Amino acid sequence: MLNLSQIGNTSGILVEIIAINEQLNQLKDLDAILDRILTEVRRLTHADAGTIFLVEKDNLKFSYVHNDTFMKAGEINKDIYANFTIPINIGSIVGYVASTGEPLNIDDAYNLAPSLPFQFNKNFDEKTGYKTTSIFTVPIKTSQGDVAGVIQIINARNAEGSSVPFPPDAQVLIPLLANNASVAIERAIMTRELILRMIRMAELRDPSETGPHVQRVGGYSAEIYHKWALNKGVDAKEIKKTKDLLRVAAMLHDVGKVGISDKILKKPDKLTDEEFAIIELHTIYGAQLFAKSTSELDTMSREIAIGHHEKWTGKGYPGQLIDMWSNPPQLGAPKKGEEIPLMARIVALADVFDALTSRRSYKPPWPDEKIIALFKEESGNHFDPDVVAAFLDIFEVIKLIRAKYADSPI
Ligand SMILES: [Fe+2]
Ligand SMILES: [Fe+2]
Repeated sequence: MLNLSQIGNTSGILVEIIAINEQLNQLKDLDAILDRILTEVRRLTHADAGTIFLVEKDNLKFSYVHNDTFMKAGEINKDIYANFTIPINIGSIVGYVASTGEPLNIDDAYNLAPSLPFQFNKNFDEKTGYKTTSIFTVPIKTSQGDVAGVIQIINARNAEGSSVPFPPDAQVLIPLLANNASVAIERAIMTRELILRMIRMAELRDPSETGPHVQRVGGYSAEIYHKWALNKGVDAKEIKKTKDLLRVAAMLHDVGKVGISDKILKKPDKLTDEEFAIIELHTIYGAQLFAKSTSELDTMSREIAIGHHEKWTGKGYPGQLIDMWSNPPQLGAPKKGEEIPLMARIVALADVFDALTSRRSYKPPWPDEKIIALFKEESGNHFDPDVVAAFLDIFEVIKLIRAKYADSPI
């Protein structure tokens, strides 16, 4: 593996940047892409920590973070769910880099010349006891030359582990990597927006199926899976890959609702048994949407669409599919236990949790204690016990996701 101390071999680094780019292009989800970019930039520069901000209107939106001092590799990174923005102006380091479009290499954050227009924000260090020294900040530029975001890496380490300045060569190579990565970032943002647009179509039918709801279900599902996989000893590579697909696929759990008539989904009165049976078809319509492709994302989306209303004990719907294309679809025996794909078992819990914890026209949000009590009761009944256990283990992370993607006030 190369790093910047072997900088004599610049063409080797360039080959590596191309290889990193190829890996980025295989990832689907924005978080997975940002995670990979930070991993690679930090590996090349031996940086202890790093943050990515993405431009959103006139602000930089905090989008991803790594910090080796505070985080064990492979563990759940709850800090990515922090939710704040910094205005794009020259008063802050990241704002300065976004405004000017130029990289900035600072050797000692606590020794900035008073004449500089920006200041180092000591809040994080004061709150956590961390000691920031060297900071290297680069813009992420698109092929049109627009600034799409900023990568900031902190505390380059020497072989002894002490903090040292970033080598001048980083000024050339890291911006190159950042600019190459912008293509993958833009594609991932487009994918998320495209999904949210599909969700808005479903939302026209079912007002409870909103953008924030699906982002929360995507986040809950990804982190519940991560914890489940850690509990089961799944290897780190497999966890990252599955998590990348799951965050996207979970968001699409209810797109099949586009096939259900308004008359039923928006009916204010109690539904008849026949109407319920029609609503249940949204699982099959969802599966039909993803039926024709063999990509891993489509396979997972199909499993989730069809299986997210199944129950561990076999009392859910729609059960085994004999022929989903016949009219009405031909169904077989109930599905139970591990016959229901794991990803669908996870999304089932995430979706119910979000419904209970959200305000609906007919009910206030349930308090957390009441939901936790219910889930403990339903462990081994409605839900897979291992999925409930993983969910309870990471309840602090679940709360952060809920806050990050809160419903906008009406
Ligand atoms: Fe559903
Ligand atoms: Fe849902």
